[in-house]
Amino acid sequence: MDKFVVKGGRRLEGEVTISGAKNAAVAILPAVILSDEPCTVENVPYISDVRICIQILKEMGAEVTNIGKDAYRIDPTTIDKFCVPYEYARKMRASYYFLGALLGKFNKARVSMPGGCPLGDRPIDQHLKAFTALGAKHTLSQGMIDLSADKLKGNQIFFDVVTVGATMNAMLAAVKAEGLTVIENAAKEPHVVDLANFLNSMGANIMGAGTDVIKIRGVEHLHGTTYAVIPDQIEAGTFMVAVAATKGDVLIKNVIPKHLESITKKLEKIGVNIEQFDDSIRVWVDGPLVKTNVKTAPHPGFPTDMQSQIATLLCLAQGTSIITENIWEQRFRYVDELRRMGADITVNGKVALIEGTGKLMGAPVKACDLRAGAALIIAGLAASGVTEIEDIYHIERGYDCMEGKLRALGADIEKVSVPDKAEENEAKSENDKAAV
Ligand code: EPU
Repeated sequence: MDKFVVKGGRRLEGEVTISGAKNAAVAILPAVILSDEPCTVENVPYISDVRICIQILKEMGAEVTNIGKDAYRIDPTTIDKFCVPYEYARKMRASYYFLGALLGKFNKARVSMPGGCPLGDRPIDQHLKAFTALGAKHTLSQGMIDLSADKLKGNQIFFDVVTVGATMNAMLAAVKAEGLTVIENAAKEPHVVDLANFLNSMGANIMGAGTDVIKIRGVEHLHGTTYAVIPDQIEAGTFMVAVAATKGDVLIKNVIPKHLESITKKLEKIGVNIEQFDDSIRVWVDGPLVKTNVKTAPHPGFPTDMQSQIATLLCLAQGTSIITENIWEQRFRYVDELRRMGADITVNGKVALIEGTGKLMGAPVKACDLRAGAALIIAGLAASGVTEIEDIYHIERGYDCMEGKLRALGADIEKVSVPDKAEENEAKSENDKAAV
């Protein structure tokens, strides 16, 4: 078991390079299954969700070669298994993209139903609605979802809610289906567009990704490609907030400034200076931080995945801020941890009221999900004293070497191994038994 130990109070200064986008990579890697030839995927972040995707592909029979720091050559032509077991699905919810990719290629898929989630209820009814519209049947038994179709046929799919996962899964399943598929009320996130661009680079015919209507004309074959994943919008946003929280001055490189607009606008309202260049942004603070209100919404609105980070910054600002969470019902679980650090936050349903006190104090805390963990690191960087963050496996699911990047900017953050108490006790009792 590892934890981060952060000694707060240091300004972040210098330059940092953002890695490839987690939420694009976890769909693009399964999408390689659809190709009839090997593909090379570049700018892949080194995070545990990606390592799980690679493991799943290998177990299915794909040949995967790591070529350089962040690139993989994947040959899907040797795949001869069509199943994602529970041991993987429980570690990575996005394993549901294997449903769409396997169905789209082989007309069948068997994937474990995603397990419980710290963000609350995460139904997949819209994913199944899309597969059904394309002609697939599904059954659920022993916790596994089985999909099968004689033949996939294009159709009209109207989503009842705007959903990233179901939009991308529908694209995966429809890309080789016969005829025209029209997805309405589609999600518009940058990773939806990235998946469409990746599939188009293999010969798919997808139009309209990034708008709320996506049209897909099915093609028979998809060929190999070399493709670089877009930079991670949320990792960039997290660093922007970390710089602001420490009143630092950092050039954040390998970003697409357009993807960061909703975050940039909010930070500017709080008093953060931002200068945009072609593929980098400079973030610095030279004045007071002030309150603002934030409502999360699907893209191009303010991303829910940045909610806990900006809440932490608002604890350090002057005045009362209101945050409304519109996507995940349990996204305020980090609030109890921030309170341990002196934050004054009241939560009522999907609304949090933050009394900015301008300061936080170090404390032992626990990451309860990926973005909550990032928020606690930011809190620790800005707090007086030492913050120890446990359960950092959540953070390592989605941030590529966060502590290394922060250290290079001057932060005092270390990853330390802590012996697992339960394992230690077990070993001790085994030794005691042996001694008797
Ligand atoms: N929803 C349904 N039915 C469905 C699917 C979704 O009702 O079949 C609802 C959800 O309950 C939620 C809303 O639709 O209220 C949006 O869910 P969405 O499907 O968009 O979320 P997701 O695809 O499961 C992705 C990201 C999340 C991010 C959300 C929202 C990936 C792998 N995950 O999840 O990222 O919060 O979109 O932008 O892309 C993270 O990176 O920390 C993370 C949780």
